[in-house]
Amino acid sequence: MATKLTWLGHGTWSIETGSHKLILDPFLNDNPTAPIKAEDVQADFILVSHGHFDHVADVESIAKRTGATVIATFEICQWFEQRGVTNTHAQNLGGAWKHPFGTAKLTIAHHSSTMPDGAPGGDPGGFLLNLPDGNVYFACDTALFSDMQWIGRRGLDLAVLPIGDNFTMGPEDSLEAIRLLNPKRVAPAHYNTWPPIEQDASAWAEQVKQETSAEPIVIEPGGVIEL
Ligand code: NI
Ligand code: MN
Repeated sequence: MATKLTWLGHGTWSIETGSHKLILDPFLNDNPTAPIKAEDVQADFILVSHGHFDHVADVESIAKRTGATVIATFEICQWFEQRGVTNTHAQNLGGAWKHPFGTAKLTIAHHSSTMPDGAPGGDPGGFLLNLPDGNVYFACDTALFSDMQWIGRRGLDLAVLPIGDNFTMGPEDSLEAIRLLNPKRVAPAHYNTWPPIEQDASAWAEQVKQETSAEPIVIEPGGVIEL
């Protein structure tokens, strides 16, 4: 079965690969665009990019109900352990680990990472995943940075970039990010959740086609990309 990536709105993705179910940055119950609720999620791994509410809101409930392993910075793992989450795997920037589903490297992100209660979440990150069906890079919440050229160096089948602007890079900087990453396909995220990050994704896709060599893939929340 091909690897299936489902956009659940905002920065939340579910990834089905091999026999594994992953969820990235689960923010469902308070997300006005999410097509499902946290109670509906099945997962054996939960990837967390940084500590902000709109990325961690449903981590605790999903982890406790499913027993999924939380993969995040040491600080974020500790924060959830203090709240009774038992399975965690701490990594830090630049570090890769061979998990049962594939290799996950925590990549740099230029953003912030305070937990909802004000505790420090360590540095914010993104995820470079080497899965059996291909390499996927989730930039997660970040500004444009020139080291993206190294992240794409070994080939990316898919890059997922924020285009919302205001809190992260916007559509224009994402075009530069695509040129640095050089992925085969690129999907936008972290937009149209609330008014401050409203964007015209089809206009963005037109620009991607004209100005980069990547194929843009725009889906609605609930939509699926196959690797
Ligand atoms: Ni954030
Ligand atoms: Mn965010």
